Amino acid sequence: MASKRTTTSDVRKLKLAGKRIPMVTAYDYSSARLVDRAEIPVVLVGDSLGQTMLGFEDTLPVTVDDMVRASAAVVRGATRALIVADMPFMSYQEGPEQALHNAGRLLKEGHAQAVKLEGGAAVIDAVRAMDTAGIAVMGHLGLMPQAVHKLGGYGVQAKTTSAGKTLLQDALALEDAGAFAIVLELIPTELAEVVTDRLSIPTIGIGSGVACDGQVQVWHDLLGLSLDFTPRHARHFCEAGDLIVGALAKYAGDVRQRRFPTEDQTSHTGERLE
Ligand code: KIV
Repeated sequence: MASKRTTTSDVRKLKLAGKRIPMVTAYDYSSARLVDRAEIPVVLVGDSLGQTMLGFEDTLPVTVDDMVRASAAVVRGATRALIVADMPFMSYQEGPEQALHNAGRLLKEGHAQAVKLEGGAAVIDAVRAMDTAGIAVMGHLGLMPQAVHKLGGYGVQAKTTSAGKTLLQDALALEDAGAFAIVLELIPTELAEVVTDRLSIPTIGIGSGVACDGQVQVWHDLLGLSLDFTPRHARHFCEAGDLIVGALAKYAGDVRQRRFPTEDQTSHTGERLE
């Protein structure tokens, strides 16, 4: 990967060249540094931080302030990846003006290069307004976690022909409104393939099969850090959770047994205190 930061046009070129686009979430400075080391070209500061970092049941309580803080930290840590910051629940649903205001904060204060928002027809005006203002926008269709209570859970979306047609129309409308890429979450593989073929902008899949131009995974799912739950579409590429628990237990044991710190890790004044 080049030493300059990945741009939205670099991402489009990857699709044109038939190259896959890996993307991962990150929420803090030190994780972002690791992502850059691994030469991952696109990082999503996902509002999934509501669950992974803040321990909420869903993403709904996440605020723009939460996202701004996380985005700024990730941008400081990852200097070569394109950083996309999620627009949290109710930061754009009121319309283009609200979307512009909050996307502006994510760019000006969070230093992100792009924003992502969930939705199709309902957000087209907001996407167009942001595009006109020069803000790079990533769309998000299929399972939209911010609508979890309306959807009734985190299941596969657009399983019928008519729902598939609506999703395709939404994807085309997002492209027309200026989106530079679209996340397709939990939709049938065949539908993801059709959408990917019909769009000139890249699709980034999560739980939507192999045909998408790229894949995105949540940091904790990818690294084995979600201790009690891993979605079916995820794979642990390592067991970092077990590794960390083992290291912490060893540290605690060494402190209890007086094996840490060692004499050579201890500072001495050289003088005897009475
Ligand atoms: O917030 C997030 O992590 C996301 C991904 C699941 C695509 O939106």
